[in-house]
Amino acid sequence: MNLARLLMERCNALGSITDEPGRLTRTFASPGMRRANKLVGSWMRAAGLHVREDAAFNLIGRWNSSKRGAKTFLLGSHLDTVRDAGRYDGPLGVLTAIAAVQSLHARGVTLPFNLEIVGFSDEEGVRYQTAYLGSRAFAGTLTAADLARIKEKQIVKARRDHREFLGYAEVHIEQGPVLEKHNLPVGVVTAIAGQSRLRAEFYGIAGHAGTVPMAMRHDALAGAAEFILAVEALAKSKTGLVATVGKIETTPGASNVIAGNVALTLDVRDQKDTVRLAAVKMLHAKAAAIAKKRGLKLVWTPVQKTAAVHCDKTLTRIFSKCVAGHGLELLRLPSGAGHDGAALSAMCPVAMLFVRCKGGISHNPAESVKTADASMGIAVLAEFVERLARQ
Ligand code: GLV
Ligand code: MN
Ligand code: MN
Repeated sequence: MNLARLLMERCNALGSITDEPGRLTRTFASPGMRRANKLVGSWMRAAGLHVREDAAFNLIGRWNSSKRGAKTFLLGSHLDTVRDAGRYDGPLGVLTAIAAVQSLHARGVTLPFNLEIVGFSDEEGVRYQTAYLGSRAFAGTLTAADLARIKEKQIVKARRDHREFLGYAEVHIEQGPVLEKHNLPVGVVTAIAGQSRLRAEFYGIAGHAGTVPMAMRHDALAGAAEFILAVEALAKSKTGLVATVGKIETTPGASNVIAGNVALTLDVRDQKDTVRLAAVKMLHAKAAAIAKKRGLKLVWTPVQKTAAVHCDKTLTRIFSKCVAGHGLELLRLPSGAGHDGAALSAMCPVAMLFVRCKGGISHNPAESVKTADASMGIAVLAEFVERLARQ
């Protein structure tokens, strides 16, 4: 079968492996992830790769070079998803890498380096609100604070020796509308935005919705609501800055009870680390002011901070040459979304290729990719590896 059609069929099959019936949700180390790793592992094996799962639930397929003492180049993306996800965010990159290997094998290409395809186990950070657990375990950059949050302490054993690796390349859907606007199937990524993830808790006093006069309330949810609008207003005031409250938990959570406490997540991103950090500082001050005004207690907990990462110039140039070789206009664009490459940049040079997705829609079951665009992704990635081998 045509490799792109096979890839699309595989994305569909993987899209039905979920932790939540009726919608696609596959989180770090969950039963769904274990089943997904089994299935993708079987496809890696069919492509001639040696397969194993590491201590951080990363799925690894390896092609050993016949050259002695060869170093290793990494390809990959992630196999975890957000809640109610689309089928392509993550899996497209892993399955494109497998298809590229199939294409290289079919043409009898040999490599002067080992090639590893990794399906990383946690790019989205849904399970613990801290992203990149798989790729940071792999790069050996997990912190004591990360480990304190999670149950699976053994993931530190997934750490690899940085000296083994030449670089990392990832194919991913764009998750935005730029390629579609330029009528292009693929584009080369220049940088990955930094991100801060935090948790804010407002503590008030739970009370009777019918008896406590409005002037005497300490309503945690009203305070949280004021803060959420302040988050939106700040991000809207600065081009490029984005800030999101994506989850909110209210306790006790009944229609006739004034909310006693509210916990919410905050995600802040910008291409410039200084802008992001200043925004987090301003939002902390804003939350404190709202809490004070309303007689609430605020608990502000930074959960994760990832600096912006610039893609490697040499690897990016190779991707650019491959794209230009197809007679396509070369579009270079930054990524507002986070990617495992951001974590792996601590251990080796990284580069990324984006594939167009319909309407720029992502983190949504309506995610859609054309077979022809997936085909271009496979061709460019296979050529990238071949060019790298000739360097
Ligand atoms: C992952 O998709 C992220 O950017 O949060
Ligand atoms: Mn992703
Ligand atoms: Mn995602």
